[in-house]
Amino acid sequence: MKKFQLGQSKQGAIDLFPEKVIKRVKLGNKEIGIVRVGDHFFAFDSLCPHRGASLIQGSINGYEEIICPLHQYRFDLKTGALQSGSCSDLEVYQTSLTDEGLIIQLNSGN
Ligand code: FES
Repeated sequence: MKKFQLGQSKQGAIDLFPEKVIKRVKLGNKEIGIVRVGDHFFAFDSLCPHRGASLIQGSINGYEEIICPLHQYRFDLKTGALQSGSCSDLEVYQTSLTDEGLIIQLNSGN
């Protein structure tokens, strides 16, 4: 398990991520997407598990789901569960907003 910290405080982390704007973030060797919806932060694989389109170009709907730009498959941002389409679930990573900033945990092997 590897931990990464973004920002120096709660507010600093919030300021780094304008609401519903998907950002590409490199953590170690891994490139992931991060998006904030209210005070919920979601971290996920930057490539769609269907055909590998970049989810950085995806969009966020009102149900905390990300929609792939290529075939519009939808994934739950919290669990990664596929909501529409036919492929495996999206890999998501645990986030927590703390007084020290946003903490993201990548599983070992990532
Ligand atoms: S590549 Fe994402 S839905 Fe097909």
